[in-house]
Amino acid sequence: MQREMSTLPRVYITRQIPPEGLKILRESGQVQFELWDSDDVPVPRKELLQKVKGVDGLVCVLTEKIDAELLDAAGPNLKVLSTMSVGFDHLSLEELKKRGIRVGYTPDVLTDSVAELTVALLLTTSRRLIEATHEAKTGGWGTWRTLWLCGYELANSTVGIFGLGRIGIAIAERLAPFKVKKFIYTDVAPRPELASIINAEYVSMDELAKQSDFLAMCCALTPETKEICNKDMFSKMKNTSIFINTSRGGVVNQEDLYEALSTGQIAAAGLDVTVPEPLPTSHPLFTLKNCVILPHIASASYTTRNAMSALAANNLLLGLRGESMIKELKL
Ligand code: DGY
Repeated sequence: MQREMSTLPRVYITRQIPPEGLKILRESGQVQFELWDSDDVPVPRKELLQKVKGVDGLVCVLTEKIDAELLDAAGPNLKVLSTMSVGFDHLSLEELKKRGIRVGYTPDVLTDSVAELTVALLLTTSRRLIEATHEAKTGGWGTWRTLWLCGYELANSTVGIFGLGRIGIAIAERLAPFKVKKFIYTDVAPRPELASIINAEYVSMDELAKQSDFLAMCCALTPETKEICNKDMFSKMKNTSIFINTSRGGVVNQEDLYEALSTGQIAAAGLDVTVPEPLPTSHPLFTLKNCVILPHIASASYTTRNAMSALAANNLLLGLRGESMIKELKL
């Protein structure tokens, strides 16, 4: 029995992923796997470098840097990497390509969850809900006041989307019933087919900054988008604008954002992602009333995380069989 098991492809899983994915792997009878059996702390790098030695497949999450060092440690058996994430900025695609390693990821299944959370964060930020509950709880609630805790509403607003893809569309579809006046977007090029779904107008990045009452970041983190939200961009935004980021923290220059928020250059920001993660509790952004920070939970619903886990497991199995994955990155 022991000998039979050992002929199966070996897989290492860098996190205790949700049960649906583990069940698929277990019941497949196609792989033998070992996992870092914790969800609370990531596998230490040293341990990871040991564990990947000689594996045929690897399932990871976004906290693991998959770079040349790790791929060298894994060695030539490694044929498939499956990340339980839609983002892939933690992967060195060049190194993976060089070694002919196929890569699965988990788009689509998290679109609804991320769009929901983005809307929740936008409303929380624009209507100052965290400040409001704090005031109610701590005795700040005096008489009803005419301008106390006033925020900004979506009705008649212009919503800007930076990076129009599945998630941007899903956010706009959810915001439209709030009587948004206009959707605008920017991207590397116009995307007329997608834009027509939400009747969005393509504009330059400058116009996006200037016109948006609400600006939602929906792009991937790439060398081109790194810190693209900086002093220059914030300086073009209205003092009444709300900035929302549920993509990656790296698209924002956080010092410039702090400056824009603390000087009133923009009205408020809602962030689900930061650099680093976790953001140290001593970080200046935490001192600002007009900055709402969440701990990277946009896809955190039971349904979605299980769907991501299942998709990551299926991508891995298909890849190891040499078949097309359900969602594979083109390298
Ligand atoms: C991803 O998948 O990249 C998200 O950031 C976490 O679900």
